Amino acid sequence: MFQQLPRLEADPILGMLAAYRADPRPHKIDLGVGVYQDELGRTPIMRAVNDAERHLLVTETSKTYLGIAGDPSFNERLLGLLLGTDDRVSAEGRVRGLQTTGGCGALRIGAEVIRRARPEATVWVSAPTWANHVPLIGGSGLRLAEYPYYDPRTHGVDFDAMMGALAEVGAGDVVLLHGCCHNPTGADLSLDQWREVTALALANGFTPYVDIAYQGLADGVDEDVAGVRHLLAAVPEAVIATSCSKNFGLYRERVGAVYFLTATAAQAEAVQTQAMAAARQIWSMPPAHGAAVVAHILGDATLRSDWLEELADVRGRINAMRVLLAERLAGNAAGIDFDFIRRQKGMFSYFGITPDQVQRLREEYAVYMMESTRINLAGVTPANIDALAAAVHAVLGRGA
Ligand code: LMR
Repeated sequence: MFQQLPRLEADPILGMLAAYRADPRPHKIDLGVGVYQDELGRTPIMRAVNDAERHLLVTETSKTYLGIAGDPSFNERLLGLLLGTDDRVSAEGRVRGLQTTGGCGALRIGAEVIRRARPEATVWVSAPTWANHVPLIGGSGLRLAEYPYYDPRTHGVDFDAMMGALAEVGAGDVVLLHGCCHNPTGADLSLDQWREVTALALANGFTPYVDIAYQGLADGVDEDVAGVRHLLAAVPEAVIATSCSKNFGLYRERVGAVYFLTATAAQAEAVQTQAMAAARQIWSMPPAHGAAVVAHILGDATLRSDWLEELADVRGRINAMRVLLAERLAGNAAGIDFDFIRRQKGMFSYFGITPDQVQRLREEYAVYMMESTRINLAGVTPANIDALAAAVHAVLGRGA
């Protein structure tokens, strides 16, 4: 049976991680997979996570099944983090969700439920979008299409082109929006632009599908979702996929949630049963540990404020590296103005060099970035920035 299956290419992001790990050069630099590294190049367990794990070790009394929807206090507290204190939609009972296996699980269950509701729906994704959006959402059987998003000339959002394309999207179709820290470009919508997208969603009737995997990595946990909160307070329906991989550093624990905002509380209850049925068909029930950690941190005032403090340090380090890298690359022989790196948000920027230069950086200097030229700013450290800047200057022409 299996003889007919060909060998597949490695996953574009996780394959890069494997290649980086296999590289024996000690000076190698990892700007590939979207994982935070501290200034010593480590991916630490956050203090509040450590504390919550210790707490769970002594207080957990059973390993019995969680149930399909997962941990109710996690689902509620994570939604609270997203929607904030002025949260009308939850008060109206119009939003229901379930715990998922990371943001990927959330995205897939969201897609499965959309397909149950409307198999002929098209999901519009930004060009470019996160490499795994297409297989995750497309794997449900839904059709995908692209709307223009990133403008390589300005290194920002081509908002006119985006709105021009979305003006043609109507009721019954879905528009996937990155809540903040656009992956892979780092180019985010401004609050005014979120307002315009919201007005268009209301006028045209398409359903927004928000993927928010980096809340707190740009400007702050509330600041980063100002646009999303505006949207969700206005539209009758939306799907939201969230992840705790980055902002809680819980990557391998696979912690996320999917929420459905519907026009009435009764619809929200019905949609949740559909989402639970979809999850039961795929993984049955989510793993408990990571969600219990997040629920405990968000429910404990001391741990929550320690987590927020450490998250601010994470964000501060990434933003400091943005400034430093832009400075170090000034005056390059190719005349590229890298100042956009300061303006972009979150872990990623599109570096905008040629595929040949990406390959030379990897082969000659052990600098790993995605073929798309996506770089992870959290991989830049005070210890490697000189080598990184020298390598980039070299491949751009000086001292090559
Ligand atoms: C990334 O974009 O690098 C991360 O979200 C990791 C992944 O699963 O692709």
